[in-house]
Amino acid sequence: MKIKKAVIPAAGLGTRVLPATKAMPKEMLPIVDKPAIQYIVEEAVAAGIEDILIITGRNKEIIEDHFDRAPELEANLAKNHKDKMLDQCVKIANLANISYIRQRETKGLGHAISKARSFTGDDPFVVLYGDDVIMGKDPVAAQLCRAYEQYGKACVGIKQVAPEAISKYSSLKVQPLKDNLYDVTDMIEKPARGQEFSLFSILGRCLLTPEIYDILDRTEPGAGGEIQLTDAMAVLARRGGIIGVDFTGKRYDMGSKLGVMQAQVETALRHPEIGAEFTAYLKEIAAGL
Ligand code: UTP
Repeated sequence: MKIKKAVIPAAGLGTRVLPATKAMPKEMLPIVDKPAIQYIVEEAVAAGIEDILIITGRNKEIIEDHFDRAPELEANLAKNHKDKMLDQCVKIANLANISYIRQRETKGLGHAISKARSFTGDDPFVVLYGDDVIMGKDPVAAQLCRAYEQYGKACVGIKQVAPEAISKYSSLKVQPLKDNLYDVTDMIEKPARGQEFSLFSILGRCLLTPEIYDILDRTEPGAGGEIQLTDAMAVLARRGGIIGVDFTGKRYDMGSKLGVMQAQVETALRHPEIGAEFTAYLKEIAAGL
């Protein structure tokens, strides 16, 4: 079965990148000239997704406006013969069928996903965390869809993290299946020292089956007092296993200051318009460090 639906949670408070996120969602932070969430929508579209639900909170209008037509701006660009930019702006509005729902209260990622129930219905769906931009030739959403087509089970995008960082992430109990695929049989969110199963963690992408909703309804607040998606996925993992896909692609955490700067600098270095000039500038700066 081909996966056609995706959910992008974008209702978090973004406290780690304040004050930039006081009045603007972190998902709208630009990477040079494109907001993070556009990279994420483009990844979903490249993976064959047609319908996208963005879960928003406060300040949702700015995200909706970005994926909508902008008649005044378009008229101005047309008048000034800025055809390339005009084309880009119109294309953004036609990327996919995007709808929106408000989470109302930021009770955690698991709570946010439970709001997608009526949108996804009986279909499996990809979740792309709104603050995790992953760049690479093969969209991670597509890597998960291929694993689902093979195994028919929920899948998670995984990578090993540094031992000192695992307490900030989830930790997975894994057994190698083949190539870059693993059987995930248990997991824990933000493990205390000694509680971790492995250094494998879920980073930014998963593919869920509708049975997750009943589990989420029964999930009590966990780490940080939030309803954790990891706690609900742990039930699925213990039930019949989840497939872990050690994905290819470089992840940038747009919810952290360092991640934002890494995304900015690396993207600027290869940017068609400013790449050469920025590279020269960076070399000059680096020489003086
Ligand atoms: P994070 O835990 O990184 O987001 O959630 P946060 O709560 O904004 O983080 P802090 O405040 O900097 O620590 C991962 C993704 O889930 C969304 C976020 O917007 C982000 O894309 N999220 C999180 C929600 O949609 N709702 C929530 O209640 C929590």
